[in-house]
Amino acid sequence: MDQTDSNLSFFDLVGNVRAMRRLKPDPVPLELIRRVLRAGVQAPSGQNTQPWAFVLLTEPESKQWFAERYAGAIRGRGRRTPDLDGRTSASRQFRALYYQLEHMHETPYILLVCGKRDWPFRVPEAERVGLAPPSYGSVYPCVQNILLACRALGLGAALTTMHQVFEAELQERFGIPEEYGVVATIPIGWPLGRFGPVRRYPAEDVTFFDAWGKAEPGE
Ligand SMILES: Cc1cc2nc3c(=O)[nH]c(=O)nc-3n(C[C@H](O)[C@H](O)[C@H](O)COP(=O)(O)O)c2cc1C
Repeated sequence: MDQTDSNLSFFDLVGNVRAMRRLKPDPVPLELIRRVLRAGVQAPSGQNTQPWAFVLLTEPESKQWFAERYAGAIRGRGRRTPDLDGRTSASRQFRALYYQLEHMHETPYILLVCGKRDWPFRVPEAERVGLAPPSYGSVYPCVQNILLACRALGLGAALTTMHQVFEAELQERFGIPEEYGVVATIPIGWPLGRFGPVRRYPAEDVTFFDAWGKAEPGE
């Protein structure tokens, strides 16, 4: 399969969008990112509110600032050091994660996907204390469009959410207003590794007919 073929069929594309954590530092034309974002905003959202906004980190010092805090957030989790030499998929994922930590600042772009805050309707007004969460449900379709569009253009991207550990500081550093929260942060660049099929449980294993647990339709 051509790694940069933007004429892939949808079904090839969707089964091929892995988290690409190893990215080249080589420049990526801004026009490609604009195309990606134009695809992002085609997504549906509750009542068509389109509650997304983007901050694209392009300056070396912005990316360095983000990369340092991101690495601190992961390293500060106090988890046992994973077996980085193992052959399991968890070890492979951790190797990629650690590569990403060390190279995040070199990534051509780090995209902050913001979401307008809004209380879910099931939270009664009397219980609405503090800031509402961003409308995650209305922003994630946009995030997935972004990941698909990157893949279609041969760009590597990885959805990350560890910024939650330093979100207030992040918002202040980049002037993101309080009415918005940061939903996801996505480093984008040309991939070092190859795209490949994702590994997922078959849809048949999690699909039921007319009642939970009934794996076939009919009697
Ligand atoms: C809500 C959400 C949060 C995620 N947060 C992170 C993250 O903080 N760091 C990271 O490296 N990957 C993150 N991921 C990516 C997943 O780890 C990844 O998609 C999953 O392990 C499957 O791997 P694959 O996409 O390469 O097949 C996140 C994905 C989702 C949907």
